[in-house]
Parts: sequence; C-alpha cells; structure tokens
Amino acid sequence: MLEVTHLSKSFGGLRAVNNVSLTVPQGAITALIGPNGAGKTTTFAMIAGFIRPDQGSITFAGTDITGLRPDRIAALGMVRTFQITQPFAGLTVAENIRVGAFLRTSDPDAAMTAAREIGSRLGLATFLDRPAAALTVAGRKRLEVARALATNPQMLLLDEVMAGLNPSEINGIVEMIQAIRAAGVTILLIEHIMQAVAALAEQVHVLAEGTLIASGTPREIANNPAVIEAYLGHGAAAKMAHHA
Ligand SMILES: Nc1ncnc2c1ncn2[C@@H]1O[C@H](COP(=O)(O)OP(=O)(O)OP(=O)(O)O)[C@@H](O)[C@H]1O
Ligand SMILES: [Mg+2]
Repeated sequence: MLEVTHLSKSFGGLRAVNNVSLTVPQGAITALIGPNGAGKTTTFAMIAGFIRPDQGSITFAGTDITGLRPDRIAALGMVRTFQITQPFAGLTVAENIRVGAFLRTSDPDAAMTAAREIGSRLGLATFLDRPAAALTVAGRKRLEVARALATNPQMLLLDEVMAGLNPSEINGIVEMIQAIRAAGVTILLIEHIMQAVAALAEQVHVLAEGTLIASGTPREIANNPAVIEAYLGHGAAAKMAHHA
C-alpha cells in the first residue's frame, strides 16, 4: 500500500532521516519506533507531504506521491495525525471533525452527519456538541484521529496517539485502533509505548539517529541487540545478555 524508498532529509547539518526504505502492507498495522529525535515525525511529514524529501521516493497505492502537497495526498486517501494536537478550541467537537469531512463533500449538512457518525464511533458521542477545549488529553487524541478519519482515508498515519495517557486510556485507544483497522483502514503508527506496539503491530520498523536499524515482528524487535543498544546505550545488550 505504501512504499518508501531511500528517503533522506537534512535540517542544516543534521541528517534527520538517512536513506530510509520501508513498506506498509495493505490492511496491516505497522509501527515505527525509535528513541526521541530519531526522525520518526520527520518521516511522517515527508510521507504525508508536509516536508519535501531531499532524496528518495514515496509510492502510495501505486501512485508516486513524492513532493505532492498534503491536500493532494489526503485526496488520494492518506492522512496523518499530529503529535501535538491543536483542535479549534472555540468550535465544538463535531465541528472540528467536520473540518476533515469537508475533504469529501462541500455540503455542510452532509459533512456534519459524517462527522457525528465518526465521532460517535470513536467514543466521543457525549462530547459532540461541547467545545473541543472541554476534552481531556485522551479526548483530544480521539478527536485528532476522528478528524483524520473523517477524510475517509485508505491509510492513516498516527503520531503518538497514546502519549501522556493512563493505562486504561491506552487500552481504550488500542481498541479504537483495532476497530479502525477492522473497518479496512491500513495503519502506520509511531509509538513509544511498547505494550501497545506489541498488541497492535504485525511489523515494526526501528529508527535511530535517522537510520533504519531493524525491522521485524514485535518479538523479534524486542530481542534485537541493535535495538536494545539504541534505546539503552552502548554495551547494554551485552550486559543484559550477561545478566539474563
Ligand atoms: N523543522 C526542523 N528544523 C530543524 N530541525 C528539526 C526540524 N524538525 C525536526 N528536527 C530535528 O530532526 C531530528 C528528528 O526529529 P523528529 O521530530 O523527526 O524526531 P522523532 O523521532 O519524531 O522524535 P520524538 O520521539 O521526540 O517525537 C531531531 O534532532 C529534531 O530536533
Ligand atoms: Mg515525533
């Protein structure tokens, strides 16, 4: 469904993303993990058209989308969420979701009907007519996903939608993501919470300092010495093996 080939991006002298290639199969949940500053969000920004890559290409559903604008990519069926959610605080939750629905229809009533249906499906039914500012952090994360889903995507890019949530809220978001996938949407997600990655993802790609250092199932990744080193520092894998 998505194929990223030899993608690179530098900011000044910093190579934020370095020659990254990965694929996301249709219908699957794939995770992109890595330490802070590894280049995960920058990779998403290039895939979704917010940043133009220095090098490399991106193919979505058979179309070369490299360098296309975000609205064109959204129209083709792929949207991202933002790590830092910024709803329109003065609009209601339903009106915020409707912003996404306007990609598919210019009829305000039809867009509102779609927005309310999606908001209800994502657990926001009792908040639809309240200002977005009234939402908890978990509610804002759900709203961010709802706004993206309202564009009726084939593929969703989710950037840390569980960060800052408590364990029961995380379980709720895991179930929400499983339901979205069951409805036929392919998902690529950035996530630091490894239990959630293990529960959701068939395939995991690991970035460290801009470079893809490992790809595999969650179990393979958890046992990969290069991944342990990237997270815990030099020599960590050998020490853990020694103590095991
Ligand atoms: N617009 C920018 N200008 C300059 N440097 C940037 C810019 N965006 C990101 N960077 C730098 O690029 C590197 C990768 O950042 P990125 O946000 O992609 O990391 P990340 O893996 O998403 O990290 P986190 O887990 O903290 O969200 C970091 O060193 C960051 O400071
Ligand atoms: Mg990030």
